[in-house]
Amino acid sequence: MLNQYRYLVDFNTDELEKEYFDAVIVGSGIAGVYTALVIPDNLHIAILTKETLDISNSVLAQGGIAVSLDKEDSPELHFKDTIFAGAGLCNEDSVWVLVNEAAENINSLCKFGVNFDKSGKGELALGREAAHSKNRIIHVGDATGKEVCDKLIHNVLNKKNVEIKERTFAIDILTSDGKCNGVLAYDEDSGKLKVYASPNVVCATGGYGQLYEYTTNPEVATGDGTCMAYRAGATLMDLEFVQFHPTVLYHPDNKSFLISEAVRGEGARLINAEGKRFMQEYHELMELAPRDVVARSIFKEMKKTNSSNVYLDITFKDSEYIKKRFPTIYSTCLKYGIDITKDYIPVAPAEHYSMGGIKTDAYGRTNIEGFFACGEAGCNGIHGANRLASNSLLEGLVFGRRIGQEIANRRIDKTEAVSVNYKTDRKLLSIDRDAIKKDIKRTMTEYVGIERNEQGLLTAREKIRNYKSQVENLKNESIKDFEIQNMLTLSELVINSALERKESRGAHYRSDYSKRDDENWKRHILVQRKI
Ligand code: SIN
Repeated sequence: MLNQYRYLVDFNTDELEKEYFDAVIVGSGIAGVYTALVIPDNLHIAILTKETLDISNSVLAQGGIAVSLDKEDSPELHFKDTIFAGAGLCNEDSVWVLVNEAAENINSLCKFGVNFDKSGKGELALGREAAHSKNRIIHVGDATGKEVCDKLIHNVLNKKNVEIKERTFAIDILTSDGKCNGVLAYDEDSGKLKVYASPNVVCATGGYGQLYEYTTNPEVATGDGTCMAYRAGATLMDLEFVQFHPTVLYHPDNKSFLISEAVRGEGARLINAEGKRFMQEYHELMELAPRDVVARSIFKEMKKTNSSNVYLDITFKDSEYIKKRFPTIYSTCLKYGIDITKDYIPVAPAEHYSMGGIKTDAYGRTNIEGFFACGEAGCNGIHGANRLASNSLLEGLVFGRRIGQEIANRRIDKTEAVSVNYKTDRKLLSIDRDAIKKDIKRTMTEYVGIERNEQGLLTAREKIRNYKSQVENLKNESIKDFEIQNMLTLSELVINSALERKESRGAHYRSDYSKRDDENWKRHILVQRKI
């Protein structure tokens, strides 16, 4: 029961205001803004962002960026760790690109003014995170994403060829004859639709954490870019692989604040509700086991002890060191009455990252000519079934730059805006939008979370389909409408993929197929809408 409508709204391009660009980038996280900085100055670019330029998932990234800089480290070791975490589903060619092009992109970040923490010798300080065999996480305290995004935004604001369109919701891409011609967007301030015509459109809209009750993602992460790609016929891949971060603050007033894996990288221990350390029972790497393993182990301990959280203990470290290394975590927890230098931190897993997304090649190209995807919205297979910590900002940089270069090399004349007159008989309906959103999240959390099984997935699909039949013929008019449609579409696609993968691999754990099945399932689940 998938959506019949090609576009979320009815419109006639002849009646809409149009602007022409050489490239339109949707999304203002690290992938989108860095791509804009790579595209040469002679090309006219627009960045469309749903909220303001500074709101993105990237800004919230704490841990850092993985890069093999140590004498003892190498791109080969980084490659090996990425492949190991990815549980047999990584695209090895893309992973080689990632690890080999990491250092040069970090150099560019330094040139853009990003001030990474230094060691005593003046070199970039290298931290440790789970499943990395070497110290290779460069960071800026525990607010790496913020520093990187601030500096990139500062640079992009100085570029005369880049126009920023805030509070602009990209509804759909416009296509004809398998080519992308631009974006149909909703201007939140005027309430009007507008066409951003362009032969190059980059989707860097992030993931879909908002399908879940608790997520480290910002409110804007409702998977809109993935859905606009899907409606236009782009292939999606690996949607069943949703990563849950093991340690997210668990407090009555905040269940979305990340407690970085770097805290465990500094030696923090996980303690269950009965005061016992437990990771030794699950994995030899203990607290530094791959993220999916740690999240599932915590989930099991919570069930075993009938508790809604476990604890993270870093109190044995020098308190001044903790405050200096983790200033954001220290001050945020303190606001909730938790002094991390003295108290255990209550934590529970929460949705953090979607490994799946819009299928691309190693140049960010999708199956629609002129339509590119990168960052969390894209899926070139580097994360496989489980992303290695701190590979996500890196992915945005490496493949954002490749897209920027690819766009510079495409010799395309300015596009004539495609002419579309799309009319349906959808109607205004009175529905409780907030209640539907809440129930989507509850359903996905309960049945499509850390542990899944066929019965639960079928229950979830029925509930989602019920809502879909209620809103299918809704005349979508507001951002809430667009989001609900996207959330329902994506939930169903994630559930379908999770039902289809009858094995447990990486972040996809099926209690009814608890083993990995390399013989039959070493392949990707692809999803494409027939148009
Ligand atoms: C963290 O700081 O734990 C998050 C890092 C990541 O998601 O890669």
